[in-house]
Amino acid sequence: MIIAPSLLAGNHAEFGRAAARADRSGADWLHLDIMDGHFVSNISFGPQVVKAIRPLSRLFFDVHLMCSRPEILLEPFAEAGADEIIVHVELEGQVDSLIWQVRKLGKKAGLAINPPTPISLARPFLDKIDALLIMTVNPGFGGQEFIHETLPKVQQAAEWRRERQGSYHISVDGGINFQTAAECARAGADTFVAGTSLFGARSLKAAVKRMRKIARANGGGLAGPGA
Ligand code: DX5
Ligand code: ZN
Repeated sequence: MIIAPSLLAGNHAEFGRAAARADRSGADWLHLDIMDGHFVSNISFGPQVVKAIRPLSRLFFDVHLMCSRPEILLEPFAEAGADEIIVHVELEGQVDSLIWQVRKLGKKAGLAINPPTPISLARPFLDKIDALLIMTVNPGFGGQEFIHETLPKVQQAAEWRRERQGSYHISVDGGINFQTAAECARAGADTFVAGTSLFGARSLKAAVKRMRKIARANGGGLAGPGA
């Protein structure tokens, strides 16, 4: 099971300190939300920030590209120290080539899916990816409320993984707190991306520990690599 604090909820005036705090928290991954002001109506940060914080953390860097032209960003983020690069399935015809390019750069490849997009769109790629990131809010901003209607997609992804004996992570991203993490774990998620509920806690370490315990108690991480 993977607990991945999202840096988007860290203090933007002190990304280095936030990354170091995540490193000391006992979390597994650091989730990095990249927004281009076009695919989503917000702008976050770029490869230079990722490069600058890379030496401050030993965590696995999970880079989530909410960008219309990810092809121009794959190499810069790979060089900046990404371990996994996630692109959106909504880019349809480009997805195959993007996954191939991420792999060619020697990085893990992930696929993200927005709440309104049918899960069937992700199915053709399941043998080619390391993680399926199910957005549980509409992407663009932290601190939004979890959309419960996304839970059947988590269940479907888990069913496909069992059927094919697949090994991709099933990640949930958006509005994940101690309660919704339990619901997602029961639905089959094994990777929990959380910004506000973790970075907003007085002790990030205690919050990570608590989320891990809750996810585990609800079955999270029974399948998938790194479980
Ligand atoms: C949303 C991002 C999320 C975000 C989650 O667009 O993809 O990763 O940081 O933040 P919270 O946990 O605050 O909903
Ligand atoms: Zn994200």
